[in-house]
Amino acid sequence: MQINAFERGLRDRVAIVTGAAIGNGRAFCERLAEEGARLVIADLIEARETEEAVRAIGGDVLSIQADVTKPDDVERLIAAAMERFGRIDILVHNVGHYSEEPFELLTFEEWKHTLDLTLNSLFLTIRGVLPHMKKAGFGRIITFSSDTVWLGTPYLTHYVTAKMGVIGLTRSLASEVGRYNITINTITVGLTATQRTNAGGSVSSILEHILPTQAVHRADEPEDIANVVAFLALPASGIITGQTINVDGGVARH
Ligand SMILES: NC(=O)c1ccc[n+]([C@@H]2O[C@H](COP(=O)([O-])OP(=O)(O)OC[C@H]3O[C@@H](n4cnc5c(N)ncnc54)[C@H](O)[C@@H]3O)[C@@H](O)[C@H]2O)c1
Repeated sequence: MQINAFERGLRDRVAIVTGAAIGNGRAFCERLAEEGARLVIADLIEARETEEAVRAIGGDVLSIQADVTKPDDVERLIAAAMERFGRIDILVHNVGHYSEEPFELLTFEEWKHTLDLTLNSLFLTIRGVLPHMKKAGFGRIITFSSDTVWLGTPYLTHYVTAKMGVIGLTRSLASEVGRYNITINTITVGLTATQRTNAGGSVSSILEHILPTQAVHRADEPEDIANVVAFLALPASGIITGQTINVDGGVARH
C-alpha cells in the first residue's frame, strides 16, 4: 500500500478507541470523526451517547462491549473491527484505572487491578492491532500516562508505577515498529474534568489548588487532549515516535 506521509486528515482511516463511552474517550472519538476517521468504540459499558455524537458529525461507528483486560474480548474486538472495516490504522488506548491510597494501606488486589487495567490491557490491545498495522505498512498508536509521573504525587504509587510503565512500553516498542511506518506516542494527561473526575463537583475544588500552579490558568478540557490525539494520529505526524507529550496546562515543566 502506497502511503503519502503528508496526507491531510483521517478520511477512511479506522480508529479503535478504548474506554470511549464517557470521559476523554468520547471527546477523542468526536475529534477523530471530525478528521474523517471511522470509529470502533471498545468499552465495558454501552456507548450509545458516543455513537450518537459521532453519527451527528457524519461519522461511521461500530461499538463493541468488551473488557480489554480479557484476551478473548480483545480478540473479538479486533475481529469485529476487521470484519466491519477491513483495516485498523489507529489505536487510541484510553482505558486506565485511578484510585488514591496511601502506600501502606494499598491492598495487593488494588495494586494488581491497577496494573491489569493500565498495562495488561495495553499489551493485549497493541498485540491485537499490530499484525494488521504491519501488513498495511501504517499504524498510529496513542497511549495515556499522567502528569503525576513527573510530579511524584503522593498516594498514587500504584497509579504512577503503572503510568510510568506506559511510557516504558511506548519508548521500547517505538524502536521495534518504526520500520513498518508504525508510530507510538504517549500523552501525560493533567487533571481533566470528566464525568469520573467531576463526580460530586470534586474537580472544581481540586482545580482551585491546581490552576495557580499551571502556566496557562484555565482547566484542561477533554477537547485539549483530543486535539493532541488527532495530531498524533495523522499520517503527517509519522516522524514523531517514542515520545511523551505533556498536556496539563504546564503544571509539570521540564
Ligand atoms: N481525567 C483525568 O483527569 C486524567 C488525568 C490523567 C490521566 N488520565 C488518563 O486518561 C485516561 C482516560 O481517563 P478518563 O478520566 O476519561 O477515564 P474514565 O474513567 O472517565 O473513563 C474510562 C472509560 O473506560 C471504560 N472502561 C473501564 N474499564 C474498562 C475495561 N476493562 N474495558 C473496556 N473499557 C473499560 C469505562 O467504562 C469508561 O467508559 C485514563 O488512562 C486515565 O488514567 C485521566
